[in-house]
Amino acid sequence: MKLGGVELKDVKNKSIRQLVANFRNEYISNGIDEKTMSDDPIQQFEKWFKEALDNKVLEPNAFHLSTCSADGRPSGRVMLLKGFSEEGFVFFTNYESRKGNDLEENANASMTFIWLELYRQIRIEGKVSRISGKDSDEYFRSRPRGSQIGAAVSAQSRVLSGREELENAANELEKKFSGEEIPRPHNWGGLILKPSRIEFWQGRVNRLHDRIFYEAADGGTWTKTRLYP
Ligand SMILES: Cc1cc2nc3c(=O)[nH]c(=O)nc-3n(C[C@H](O)[C@H](O)[C@H](O)COP(=O)(O)O)c2cc1C
Repeated sequence: MKLGGVELKDVKNKSIRQLVANFRNEYISNGIDEKTMSDDPIQQFEKWFKEALDNKVLEPNAFHLSTCSADGRPSGRVMLLKGFSEEGFVFFTNYESRKGNDLEENANASMTFIWLELYRQIRIEGKVSRISGKDSDEYFRSRPRGSQIGAAVSAQSRVLSGREELENAANELEKKFSGEEIPRPHNWGGLILKPSRIEFWQGRVNRLHDRIFYEAADGGTWTKTRLYP
């Protein structure tokens, strides 16, 4: 019996460090025919997202967000996509967090979705800006009260003395606004990445994967090419 491409008996007898190089799965799929890919990558994203839902991909709206500070230090973290349209891809966070600060200094960012159940990856690059306060308010109001409190008491990415401090702050805020709406914190809201490049990756056997790459020209029209895997 195999686990992640590794024989189970090996998993028992070897250390994880020895085993890591042996993890190897074949990615079996029908591949991508670029002729069937939409000329508009946002529409193509929508189509693949629907296929991810149909195939019960776990957390299909989770993506990896890469940012880079002005002095060239990259950092990444997982986020949740909360909307997309021709305008771009929207997510919510603390504007004063590490990623928030990076994006203040350097608006260039990239998003990576990985849908392992389908052997698919989507990479999106572009510039990030804030959405309107009105749109952030609207989304904040739609969140469960517990999540609103969580966002309001978290000085995201700053040092915390201990778990207790966070829980006390949450309890105090709950008391302060008992029976009232929690206001959206001024430093929390939505960001939108306007894409200039989008790549769809489909795993195939023998690592002969498919990659279809879209790039927006200055006027906004998309070109579509195939890249070596
Ligand atoms: C599945 C998953 C979803 C997440 N979604 C968000 C999110 O939508 N917004 C957010 O601020 N952090 C989210 N996080 C936490 C971030 O990964 C990260 O820890 C946090 O935003 C602080 O990052 P920073 O210090 O680089 O700013 C999520 C984490 C995971 C694992």
